[in-house]
Amino acid sequence: MITIFKGPQPTFMLHTKNTSYIMKVLPSGHIEHVYYGARIHLDNVDGLMEQREFAPGCTTVYNNEDKSLSLEDVCLEMSGMGKSDVREPFIELIRSDGGRTEDFLFDTYEAREGKEPIEDLPSSYGNDDEVDSLYINLIDAKYDLRLTLKYSVFEETDVITKSARITNNSDFSVRIKRIMSNQLDFMPVDMRFHTFTGAWAREMHRNDALVGEAKLVNESRSGNSSNRANPFVMLSSINTTEDAGDCYGINLIYSGNHYEAVERNAFGKIRFVSGINPSTFSWHLKSKLSFQTPESVMTFSENGFNGMSNNMHRFVREHIVRGYWKDRERPVLINSWEASYFDINENKLLRLARAAKDVGVELFVMDDGWFGRRNDDTSSLGDWTANTKKLSSGIAGISRKIHALGMDFGIWVEPEMVNVDSNLYREHPDWTIEIPGHAHSEGRNQRILDLTRGDVQEYVINAMSNVFSSGEINYVKWDMNRNFTDMYSPVLTPKQQGDVNHRYIVGLYKVMDALTKRFPEILFEGCASGGNRFDLGILSYFPQIWASDDTDAIARAEIQTGYSYGYPMSTLTAHVSDIPNHQTLRRTPLETRYHVAVLGILGYECNLTDLNGDGLKAIRQQISIYKKYRRTLQFGTFYRRSSLYDRRGFSTILPNYANDYEWTVVSEDKSEAIGVMLQTLVHPNTQYALLKPTGLIDEAIYRIEGREITYNIKELGSLVNTVSPIHVKQDGMVHNALARYITLNGEKEKHIMYGDAIMKAGIRLRPAFAGVGYNDNIRMYPDFASRLYVIKRIEPV
Ligand code: GLA
Repeated sequence: MITIFKGPQPTFMLHTKNTSYIMKVLPSGHIEHVYYGARIHLDNVDGLMEQREFAPGCTTVYNNEDKSLSLEDVCLEMSGMGKSDVREPFIELIRSDGGRTEDFLFDTYEAREGKEPIEDLPSSYGNDDEVDSLYINLIDAKYDLRLTLKYSVFEETDVITKSARITNNSDFSVRIKRIMSNQLDFMPVDMRFHTFTGAWAREMHRNDALVGEAKLVNESRSGNSSNRANPFVMLSSINTTEDAGDCYGINLIYSGNHYEAVERNAFGKIRFVSGINPSTFSWHLKSKLSFQTPESVMTFSENGFNGMSNNMHRFVREHIVRGYWKDRERPVLINSWEASYFDINENKLLRLARAAKDVGVELFVMDDGWFGRRNDDTSSLGDWTANTKKLSSGIAGISRKIHALGMDFGIWVEPEMVNVDSNLYREHPDWTIEIPGHAHSEGRNQRILDLTRGDVQEYVINAMSNVFSSGEINYVKWDMNRNFTDMYSPVLTPKQQGDVNHRYIVGLYKVMDALTKRFPEILFEGCASGGNRFDLGILSYFPQIWASDDTDAIARAEIQTGYSYGYPMSTLTAHVSDIPNHQTLRRTPLETRYHVAVLGILGYECNLTDLNGDGLKAIRQQISIYKKYRRTLQFGTFYRRSSLYDRRGFSTILPNYANDYEWTVVSEDKSEAIGVMLQTLVHPNTQYALLKPTGLIDEAIYRIEGREITYNIKELGSLVNTVSPIHVKQDGMVHNALARYITLNGEKEKHIMYGDAIMKAGIRLRPAFAGVGYNDNIRMYPDFASRLYVIKRIEPV
């Protein structure tokens, strides 16, 4: 809802169900940011306005009409350089006369129901009854420039979005050095800034830093939204926990270089800005043209990180992800990559597919290696025709055979890339991003196609359309495996070379838009060496993203927890893979690999044809459980258990890992929930544990049942001798024979309790193994152990 106190200096109030965002035009024409936080009632804004009687010492006043107005000390909706605000600016321009002073003042506004898409870029969407929009126009009169600040208010999900559009109405060009999407000023408060940083195979590790006087910056410069620093960030009060306290979550609908900075100024006020990274951006804005920024998405909750995450998750599910797969349950897949890497052929793939079908897999994905002469990563990207030595009946043949087995068929592509060793590069050496005559810095032996060019965009759309219609293709994994260097496009003028990064992203969106419209029922999965481009821009086209190349359960627990702050489980894919794990060499139990992977879109990525009967039986059972609770697991409300994460300290060189994890996913009607617990390392003699799920109905009765885990006797090693009448030599014949015939049952855990008792008191679980005594009431809980609990609402008896 948008409410306006009209007049020459209007007050704008954007209300969502639980939040209020308030700003007011000052007599000078600047817009003061008055408040953003929990929803408040307001008949007039007087008591909220900052009272100014004098400008602080050693500051400059805006003009002589108000000797108390120093822009450096005001919370502003938008600020520029050159008029005394020395904080991080929202906008920086270089005008035709060389002038660098911003002087944008309020002109007009317009409020309307609904929301229009923003130009050239993906944006959030909603019906007229879900979202209202406000446009505030500012004018820099001397240079004939107009800046429109756009706000959209999504009442139900407690989200407000912001973007800006600058229009050059003058007869001269202007250089945009920076134009942000969001500026958020706060009165002096203590806050923490939380970012999610990492690397390949180590994405989304949470950092917590106190907002002090030194500026904190979270940014990517690699061309992608990046695994180094995700564009999703949080600001919280210093005592905020998972379940209590103020928390702001802010994200950007953008897949390129981004920038989020927060600083405390000389007077204690805090400024946050977010938008395209100015250090790799410089836009040549010609006369009569406009430039539109990406959209920033923000939410606020008084109910801690979980409260904020719940808002963000719902918003992403309802107003970012779109199309055929938006609300559809996603299939369980098998991917060929870790099973065979590049060494694939039709027979091998069909063998894997049969084994997968047999355990209940629904979608078979043929990963890299199927095209050109692609036997390793040195060649063939760009040559998108099937290698008939590997696939004798082409894509049409293998997809038909997979369908005949009763499974859907999916394929891997990396459309934005080309190897120098490819026919495409030989034919069109000028189609890549590189500096002519200058040695190129290679990444994974490949170069990036110049998607700033219309002809290259057309080529990619056609080449991919051919692939996607060459067989019965239901799924596409769209990969992108290198960072940007040598930014240069021969079709742009020297003055436009600063545009290349952004033009690439706009070109990519055009291509993705065309292909997702042409193939609306294909399930697209984004990927960039795992999570090197996990962002809301990609999710506006593709409903899910491969969260990390790291499939190790322990590493994934941390990575997926990181994603869970800003992204719902329906957007992130997670696979059970082989041990020792291919990224870490760690051995974790099959059930733990599964228990972590169910907290996302479940898949398998291992050679099922090498597994024995027990392994296949276990996987068959895993998949059938997943299917049973799939709607809840993919689309439910997700909670992290409070105390387990709040123990972390401030950022260190290597992030702090949690040792114990507990997550709960609750169905929309709260009648069903899945709880998962995981331990990294055992602390000796600490046998007691609580299961403390969140999100249930206080007065409802629930049955809680632990998933029973069985053990191979060999997992007890020589401890078997404490119960065996004869001596059993470890790994000897007798030990192996016993292991074949005896299965140890794990503990049974069954309770019937009220929702509030479960959530507030917690369920006292059976004691974990602690070095003394063993029976089947003991929870065998060694390093990397985990449990899954099913919680079902029942009627009182
Ligand atoms: C990237 C992806 C992997 C796999 C390979 C294939 O690394 O992240 O999942 O598809 O490419 O080359």
